[in-house]
Amino acid sequence: KKNFRKDKSLFGKRVLITAGPTFEKIDPVRFIGNNSSGKMGLFLAEEALELGAEVTLVIGPNNLDINPLINSIKIESAQQMYHAVHNNIDDANIIIMSAAVADYSPKNVSDIKIKKKTDSLTIELAPTKDILKSVGEIKKQNQLLVGFALETNDEKENAIKKLNSKNLDMIILNSLNDIGAGFGHNTNKVTIIDKNNNVEDFELKSKALVASDIFNKIISLLKQ
Ligand code: CTP
Ligand code: CA
Repeated sequence: KKNFRKDKSLFGKRVLITAGPTFEKIDPVRFIGNNSSGKMGLFLAEEALELGAEVTLVIGPNNLDINPLINSIKIESAQQMYHAVHNNIDDANIIIMSAAVADYSPKNVSDIKIKKKTDSLTIELAPTKDILKSVGEIKKQNQLLVGFALETNDEKENAIKKLNSKNLDMIILNSLNDIGAGFGHNTNKVTIIDKNNNVEDFELKSKALVASDIFNKIISLLKQ
């Protein structure tokens, strides 16, 4: 472990990170979820901690061991994540949203378990709030906002669109086309694009090392 690293570039800074999936309830025993493990966000939180920052991690359902030095806030739904983020946004200097937030949530949640029938079942879904976009709209001068983009096609083009439409300082493009990268893996292959349109492709590597690459970029942006 590299616990005794001397580089404390983020000393005195507050870092807010979202991670993991969200679970959107259908009834008391069912939900709509996704395969995010939360690992990328947890590695980011640990890296920020090592760099001397105070770290708040808003994290969806997972089975990870979270370092008690991280202020972790456990949530389930996109709506709960939205509120947890906005309750902790004011004094954050760096905000990184790595969560795989559900884009839709059941319009009505049944109080009782839905019984099976022989005909088909339709569940009406309503769009969730875009948490990252909502933060981009209220971002202050001294706040650096970082998003992720998960794409399968026209990857860089789509990532740049997200960077601009959500008012981000930086976006991490996660490519699902590479074997061993992304959901459920311990490795990731990313491209980092900043607001000045610098594009940097990284090799497939462990998520811990990807977290370190991301913070190196953040620290160099902070110096500008
Ligand atoms: N995000 C968010 N709140 C949402 C949806 C997404 O904060 N309701 C954030 C994610 O945490 C990520 C970024 O937005 O940092 C991009 O998420 P992604 O799913 O790639 O893009 P979307 O904007 O949701 O668009 P689409 O899924 O249609 O590609
Ligand atoms: Ca989405």
